[in-house]
Amino acid sequence: MQEQTIRVSTQTLAEKRRERDCSILVTGATGFIGSHITGALLRRGCRVLLLARPDKQLGARARIAQLLEWLGMGQQEQTRLKVVEAFMDQPRLGLDQEAYDNLARSIDEIIHCASNTSFSERKRPEIEKANIKGLRHLLDLAVQGRCYFFHHVSTAYVAGKKNGPCREEFVETAAFTNVYEETKYLGEQLLHECCESHGIRLTVYRPSIVYGSSEDGRSLHFNALYYPLKTIVFLKNLFVKDIKENNGKRAAQMGVTMGRDGALHLPIRIEAGNGNGLNLVPIDFLVKAFMEIMDRCLEGGVFHIVNQRTKTIDELVDYTTRYFNLEGLQAVHKEAFDEKSRNDLEILFDTYVEAYKPYMTDVRTFNDHNTRSILEKKGMQCPDLDYEIFSKCIGYAIDTGWGTKLFENQNR
Ligand SMILES: NC(=O)c1ccc[n+]([C@@H]2O[C@H](COP(=O)([O-])OP(=O)(O)OC[C@H]3O[C@@H](n4cnc5c(N)ncnc54)[C@H](OP(=O)(O)O)[C@@H]3O)[C@@H](O)[C@H]2O)c1
Repeated sequence: MQEQTIRVSTQTLAEKRRERDCSILVTGATGFIGSHITGALLRRGCRVLLLARPDKQLGARARIAQLLEWLGMGQQEQTRLKVVEAFMDQPRLGLDQEAYDNLARSIDEIIHCASNTSFSERKRPEIEKANIKGLRHLLDLAVQGRCYFFHHVSTAYVAGKKNGPCREEFVETAAFTNVYEETKYLGEQLLHECCESHGIRLTVYRPSIVYGSSEDGRSLHFNALYYPLKTIVFLKNLFVKDIKENNGKRAAQMGVTMGRDGALHLPIRIEAGNGNGLNLVPIDFLVKAFMEIMDRCLEGGVFHIVNQRTKTIDELVDYTTRYFNLEGLQAVHKEAFDEKSRNDLEILFDTYVEAYKPYMTDVRTFNDHNTRSILEKKGMQCPDLDYEIFSKCIGYAIDTGWGTKLFENQNR
């Protein structure tokens, strides 16, 4: 981008950032990543505006208040926060003209975390509505107002169906694993073109798979890494109950038995393909990396926030076996199912985790030269998901009923 065409010079931007003289609009603050980024911005004293919508139980402001309490934010830290109830997928964000114009005039930078994160083809219309139409509405706001920097939380998987290394740049992609990857890719293309032609700086942050905090295991969402584990726990509980209460007839039909030491034998082979395993990033690292890139990279760019140490399915099976006192789980290559076809339990397990299988057998790798060139100066490195971190995260998931009891001990 030519310096003379852009909305703010690098020098002015640096000054504004230094003086905290800017209003930052954040979308998706009721979600996992957006809430944590909002927390980090408020803790450093930024002026933050949130676009949020109500859910079935609570209004937008009450939802945000509940989340900030969960994040441990004090009232003092929230004095520079304003919540605007709005609907990203509606024209003018569902606001009246005056409120919309006022909003457009007051925003310096946008951090866009809102997205429909479902992989389901059945939900294509609503996913497109959020990830493409919603983004378009937000870009309209940016273009009409004075916004000079757009920060977009995308995903490393915009790379689509690919073997091997994926680059930190805007590349042409034709085939995708699911509608989520496809709409995130199209969103990036839209953004790139629009920001370029309106002189808005653009940074695209592409995380891989995000899980709970490596420090205390806390998480807000329990999909991706958690979902196959939740399925294993569900099956374990089902068969333990059957063995204890109904003589284990159903369990025996599935080849499930209980050993004398109390270990449950669950004969499930999990396909690991010839892949590298899961690329997992804890939320605390993701937020620190995001803030560091935002601070250091004033020109904009594309950044993979990934883990160079992927977790093989073998390692995850080992952790799961130890944590839940199980036997019989095995990571195998695809060919193992040619030699011996799937048993009923394996068919059941595969049905549950179908949407995540492309990630469990992933052969994509992600270059993160841009990210590392910034983080290494601070000695920052993505933590490895070792057994200790795994135990903290799964312990928190179970204590909170996989997210169903997250806010139970809060006042609201
Ligand atoms: N979590 C991961 O593992 C991961 C990995 C890579 C990239 N990412 C990217 O990171 C970003 C945040 O993901 P996340 O995990 O935080 O997702 P999340 O927890 O599911 O949160 C999604 C957020 O988007 C909002 N949203 C969804 N549809 C909307 C719509 N139609 N209109 C307005 N708001 C809408 C949600 O609002 P409501 O609460 O009102 O529904 C929520 O605030 C996304 O762009 C995602 O693609 C996530």
